[in-house]
Amino acid sequence: MKIIRVKNADEGGKKAFEIIKEDIESGAKTFGLATGSTPETMYSYMVASDLDFSDKISINLDEYVGLSGEDDQSYRHFMNEHLFNKKPFKETFVPNGQAEDLQAECRHYDEIIAENPIDIQVLGIGQNGHIGFNEPGTPFDATTQVVGLTESTINANKRYFEKAEDVPTHALSMGIASIMKSKKIILMAFGEVKAAAVNAMLNGEVTTDLPASILQKHDDVVVIVDEAAASKL
Ligand code: GLP
Repeated sequence: MKIIRVKNADEGGKKAFEIIKEDIESGAKTFGLATGSTPETMYSYMVASDLDFSDKISINLDEYVGLSGEDDQSYRHFMNEHLFNKKPFKETFVPNGQAEDLQAECRHYDEIIAENPIDIQVLGIGQNGHIGFNEPGTPFDATTQVVGLTESTINANKRYFEKAEDVPTHALSMGIASIMKSKKIILMAFGEVKAAAVNAMLNGEVTTDLPASILQKHDDVVVIVDEAAASKL
């Protein structure tokens, strides 16, 4: 894995944007995108750029079960606000957290991923080492599935909600097997709270206890870390 150390989230977002720009120049068309605070600076650079995404496809990692795309806390809403409303794509996919049949929605999402192989997958990392919403214990061969969120994740994400009880307990998440099929992966981690997970991902054993550790087995991963997130390396 290639490690790029930056001063802060702004510099990290700029680096990630530059990698995306280069890949677009070499033909990248399909982007696996992530939510959370981490990729926000990268999206700002994408929005401010003169890059045209109108022939590009995006496939997001995950969505909360039960939230509609119009809900302020939904990941569909996050993506519209941070990127899609400002930089139109040809097509954008986010799992439907309100699907009546969630299992069918998972299968449908896997079909979308199979039809649109991901050129670049953007990832953040949870404090417990999750990627997407693939929590510790998720098998590495999992495809899109309904996942129960751990207490650590609910605690980390409650800052976006009025109260902890409002955080959905379940989500739909692209699986680790699909993430690993992406041609290239860019993982960003900023802040001290990520330092332990970043160290375990890079230097620990490959184990489902720390889902991001599987990235050691992918041959084109760029990890962008700020000083705080790199402080335990
Ligand atoms: C969330 C998302 C992940 C994200 C991670 C970190 O729960 N499902 O895709 O990478 O947790 O979030 P943040 O970037 O806000 O620290």
